[in-house]
Amino acid sequence: MLFNNNATTITRTKSTNDFLFHHNRHLLNRDPWFYEFIVTYPPLPSLNEGIPNFFQEATTSKNISLYLHIPFCTNLCSFCGRFVKYIGQTHEQMVKYVNYLKKEIDYVHSITQGNNHKISSVYFGGGTPTVLPLDVLVELINYVLDKFNVDLQNEITVETSPEVSNKEIYNELIQSGVNRISIGIQSFDDNVLKLTNRAHDKLNAIYSFYNARKIGFENINIDLLLGLPNYDLTKFSFDLNQAVELKPDCITIYPLYIQESCTMYKMDRNRFPNAEVLWKMGIYERDFFKSVDYIESPIHYFTLNKNKTPQQWFHRWKNSGDVIGLGVSSFGFFNNTQYHNHLVLDKYYESIDNGQIPIWKFLTLDKEEQTRRKLIFQIKTGVIEKTLIKTSFRKIINNFIRLNLITDAGEYYELTLHGKVHSEEMCLEFFSPLVKQNVMNISPGYCGYMNKPALYY
Ligand SMILES: C[S@@+](CC[C@H](N)C(=O)[O-])C[C@H]1O[C@@H](n2cnc3c(N)ncnc32)[C@H](O)[C@@H]1O
Ligand code: SF4
Repeated sequence: MLFNNNATTITRTKSTNDFLFHHNRHLLNRDPWFYEFIVTYPPLPSLNEGIPNFFQEATTSKNISLYLHIPFCTNLCSFCGRFVKYIGQTHEQMVKYVNYLKKEIDYVHSITQGNNHKISSVYFGGGTPTVLPLDVLVELINYVLDKFNVDLQNEITVETSPEVSNKEIYNELIQSGVNRISIGIQSFDDNVLKLTNRAHDKLNAIYSFYNARKIGFENINIDLLLGLPNYDLTKFSFDLNQAVELKPDCITIYPLYIQESCTMYKMDRNRFPNAEVLWKMGIYERDFFKSVDYIESPIHYFTLNKNKTPQQWFHRWKNSGDVIGLGVSSFGFFNNTQYHNHLVLDKYYESIDNGQIPIWKFLTLDKEEQTRRKLIFQIKTGVIEKTLIKTSFRKIINNFIRLNLITDAGEYYELTLHGKVHSEEMCLEFFSPLVKQNVMNISPGYCGYMNKPALYY
């Protein structure tokens, strides 16, 4: 038997739950069709077209993360609207992509190498990197690690999905220096996996996890989704129990967002958990992980041990750290400039053929926007430094305190349980009026909360 039946159940009494629910009803406007998981600031719609000259300007050594985007997947999952991905690409097409990616790597390396930057983590994300032919993926990993002289003690992650992650693949990855695996499982319910067009079932997911362990990975993350169709608290609780039974080092629970570009957008909205259930799931999830000794850091990432805190996200968010994004649709942040590569392969290739770095858009942030960015990302770590709070942000902070989203913890503010459930909505409060206006003008679909308050109903 793969799982025992002694599932952990968290019992906040009904009256406690009702009290919390009543007390926080003003926070209950979470709507997956409006919601955004914030990963950049400013977001793409408010960047300007052009190529910055920022890599040369960094004269002192920095700690940098590398992110490489591999835009290939087995299936198109019905909930996935954000990531740039291509299905059914031929061997030649994938080899072509990797060859171009290497040209971009060479170029970026040649203009940054004089400054002895230290690479603190490397992340091969997607899409699904392990859809690449195995020899091509391994060669790419070796190429990056050698080129940037990456210390193999640092976090080196590859994202994968259960249908493309067998022992042979894991073995090659671990041999080439990869020390962290992130497996997208999403749900342990076969019906939902089918409904969302995932290319694997629950058993594949479990075997994928155990194979990674058997091969020797000591740092494994699994992704699950909160808010899938036909889900209620009982089903969600079942998923969480199944997840901890595997003892992953990290479990990431992404609250579902539904963008116009995904096929799920057209599904009957009554099939999804409503705002009240979503809120209860958010509270339940945190009670549950506390009861099984998982720590939440950053928000939505639960780890068994502090050493397994995902370094790439912590670097990006805690310190507003520099990230070089490589590959089609990648985004990065360097020398206070947020930038974004071309979104489609043709443009990406054309740019590299022209001898250019394939950046499509960028914006260099002034001091005020830099502070806003730091605040937005610190929220995602659960802790906001007081030294960042200028008078103009006081009102937002006071509102957060009034709404029981943060508490005073001396030199910093700490997100409360409710704050953690609503961290992404809290981030939106620090978007500048100019950025909000640009986003609404150019991409009104970016986030439904852009033109109305996300929190105060
Ligand atoms: C780029 S995917 C990489 C993993 C791999 N492609 C897979 O799906 O198994 C990273 C994660 O983003 C999350 N994700 C994708 N679409 C999402 C959505 N609409 N809402 C919330 N999270 C989403 C999923 O949990 C997924 O595992
Ligand atoms: S969720 Fe993962 S596998 Fe599914 S389409 Fe998105 S990137 Fe590809």
